[in-house]
Amino acid sequence: MKRIWAVLVVLSMLFACSNELNDSFTTPAIEKEIDRLLSQMTLEEKVGQMTQVDIRYIKKPEDVIKYGFGSILSGGGATPTPNTPEAWADLYDSLQTLALRTRLGIPIIYGIDAVHGHNNVKGAVIFPHNIGMGATRNPDLVKKACEITAVEVAATGIDWTFGPCVAVTRDERWGRTYESFGESPDLVSEMAKAEVEGFQGTSLDDPLSIVACAKHFIGDGGTTGGVDQGNTEVDEETLRKIHLPGYISAIKAGVGTIMASYSSWNGIKCHGNKYLITTLLKGELGFEGFVVSDWAAIDQLPGDYRSDIKTAINAGIDMVMVPDKYEEFISNLIDLVEKGDVSQSRIDDAVRRILRVKFKLGLFENPFSNRDLLPKIGCEEHRMIARQCVRESLVLLKNKNNILPLPKNLKRIHVSGKNADDIGNQCGGWTITWQGSSGNITDGTTILQGIKKAVSSETKVTYSFDGSGAEGADVAIAVLGERPYAEMKGDRQDLSLDSDDLRTLENLRKANVPTVVILITGRPLIITEQLDSMDALLVAWLPGTEGDGIADVLFGDFSPKGKLPVSWPRDMSQIPINIGDANYDPLFPYGFGLTY
Ligand code: BGC
Ligand code: BGC
Repeated sequence: MKRIWAVLVVLSMLFACSNELNDSFTTPAIEKEIDRLLSQMTLEEKVGQMTQVDIRYIKKPEDVIKYGFGSILSGGGATPTPNTPEAWADLYDSLQTLALRTRLGIPIIYGIDAVHGHNNVKGAVIFPHNIGMGATRNPDLVKKACEITAVEVAATGIDWTFGPCVAVTRDERWGRTYESFGESPDLVSEMAKAEVEGFQGTSLDDPLSIVACAKHFIGDGGTTGGVDQGNTEVDEETLRKIHLPGYISAIKAGVGTIMASYSSWNGIKCHGNKYLITTLLKGELGFEGFVVSDWAAIDQLPGDYRSDIKTAINAGIDMVMVPDKYEEFISNLIDLVEKGDVSQSRIDDAVRRILRVKFKLGLFENPFSNRDLLPKIGCEEHRMIARQCVRESLVLLKNKNNILPLPKNLKRIHVSGKNADDIGNQCGGWTITWQGSSGNITDGTTILQGIKKAVSSETKVTYSFDGSGAEGADVAIAVLGERPYAEMKGDRQDLSLDSDDLRTLENLRKANVPTVVILITGRPLIITEQLDSMDALLVAWLPGTEGDGIADVLFGDFSPKGKLPVSWPRDMSQIPINIGDANYDPLFPYGFGLTY
């Protein structure tokens, strides 16, 4: 008996050891492959690997061979025509074919912002944006959603998503608040792990895995005034306490890449900050993947372009999202190395990191798209999980006299509001185009359609944009909130309801019917004055294509369980407001959410 125990103990120790090895990002076999390749590469080829170009700026296809780009990306809205899954796979394969014709045949790694599903692709399933995923408090579900996104991305050949965004949003005026899981570093860390595990799977070379990118390093959500690309003015202890945990968690989960932030830390642009990128991220945290710059972000460093490149590469940026003037980038970086302004060893380190990710992805063995997966894009099975994400993300803030759930057999329901019947609005930014747009931009179910499907055949569902004509209905459902926006264009000084929404509420008040308000929004809106006129208030964030998930909760097939991922302010003067503040007195606190 004793002997069996001894054997078991030894076995379990062996297991623990091999697990630890698996956890390490480097493997001796891959490092050997990299040594072999590096020893054959010219400086031009190495610099090529460090260059990432947006598809729209490649002047001629032969440039992919001539310069040996390490990476190509589709920025938001950079879609093939027609925007079909097949056309994406064709595009990817044609570029990869060119890359394989380079002297050493090093494949490109293709990147895209698949930040709530494969969101540039028409017909792909669109999940709630991260703020809604944070509200679910369900990391297993978040992981599942990322597994699905990975399959849809891999189907088109694409290898790499610029996600998860592990920003900790501290000021709702920031237009990227919805890309954050919430204001708490703990919540962000938990979801970061789930997303990385979902995208990357158990092994990066699994055909169903893609490589993840934690972004934007570091402090993007903490800028003063919530200004996009602004300045995060906090001491190092605060930076580490609030903005670093998401990265620690992503690195522990094996994240392959990290994107630097446009923003500054105490006046110094992150893209030029060697302490943050090299000392902290690569040194102290032991990050062994590669660091990519953000879109033309090095251009914002002080000095001319040559000096921008020098500062960024010496700070520790490994790949530059140029994304346009690649000739200028490449010739300057070569010159910097030749003149000794950037060391050969820095270049080798950058290229080693890039090749490491490519080897781990299995790109050398399987460079092309996996077309068997194409039918999976936007399939019913994927939509069912997105629908679950929607219903679990809903946060019920008010439910006077338990008006919700609604019976399915009411005589008449009057639906209204600008976001009731608009796929584009319910998806938000980063959907088909960079900023997103209103209207019928992709396949899905609007909230109105979901309601119509859910009710009994005796129930009449009427609709008006502005709430007019509600008189006599048993209940009115008003779907209000924001219209699509993304980075740079989404910052707001005033988060009150717009005139369309106020008119809708006024019409419903005049009609004197009980009113359920659903907010489609990327962040808390100022509703203190209107709250009395709402019998129920359900926050749906930016739910994506599966509007059925809202009907699931409205009619009681499921009880709401979402919890606020951010504090809900009473008025603009309270912003920034975050859990843990002194004199914390929000309209609804962090973590609030009713159920039935
Ligand atoms: C954004 C990134 C994004 C990149 C590529 C930048 O403007 O800040 O989040 O990944 O563009 O589209
Ligand atoms: C691209 C985005 C990018 C942005 C940055 C847009 O044209 O499509 O992906 O983030 O420019 O300014």
